[in-house]
Amino acid sequence: MQDLKVNIIDHPLVQHKLTLMRMKETGTKDFRELLEEISMLMAYEITRDLPLTDTDISTPVSACKSKVLDGKKVGLVPILRAGLGMVDGIVKLIPPIKIGHVGMYRDPKTLKPVEYYCKLPTDINERMLIVVDPMLATGGSAAAALSLLKEKGAKNIIFLCLVAAPEGVRAINEAHPDIKIYTASVDEKLNEHGYIVPGLGDAGDRLFGTL
Ligand code: PRP
Ligand code: URA
Repeated sequence: MQDLKVNIIDHPLVQHKLTLMRMKETGTKDFRELLEEISMLMAYEITRDLPLTDTDISTPVSACKSKVLDGKKVGLVPILRAGLGMVDGIVKLIPPIKIGHVGMYRDPKTLKPVEYYCKLPTDINERMLIVVDPMLATGGSAAAALSLLKEKGAKNIIFLCLVAAPEGVRAINEAHPDIKIYTASVDEKLNEHGYIVPGLGDAGDRLFGTL
């Protein structure tokens, strides 16, 4: 684990909500709400270094200088399907954010990613892209999505997931050493079906009720 390059978001609210999401008794409605809430909290943490600039404003009391975001453009790219569950929470925090979509599913036999959709803002090369997917298992889907975004011109990307396997973190570290990974947890391992242990099961199925 020592060799992994990964940033753990250990905020107590994030950790508490993740525990609720892991529990097998948690149904679709609660899972969906928790994923939205946790995504907002994680986005709050990962955007703490966004640059600020001073602007002149007037309060009801006096004129003053005050801080605003310096206009750096941010973009959000959920990896379909499960990444969709992370969009609303982040949009609440950054309402003007532009959103691209990358569709990837993991072939259940080979565990290899299959790309089926890609629609992106035209100026992704000027944006800091936050790529989101709740699960980083073998890392195949995320690595393919990140390669695709780079091919399309993206230069500044961070990857945000909820639960990662050490194997997935290692795969992204090797294929994309320039990309920072943020997660709420690095779990123990992958099982023989490529599921994260203990993980939370199939995120897309739990989110959309397709179990
Ligand atoms: C899940 C998950 C990731 C991928 C992770 O998607 O949301 O995209 O698996 O696995 P990997 O790291 O081994 O590639 P899935 O393929 O189940 O598709 P879905 O989101 O449409 O359910
Ligand atoms: N995809 C999921 O949704 N869960 C896992 O544990 C692994 C891949």
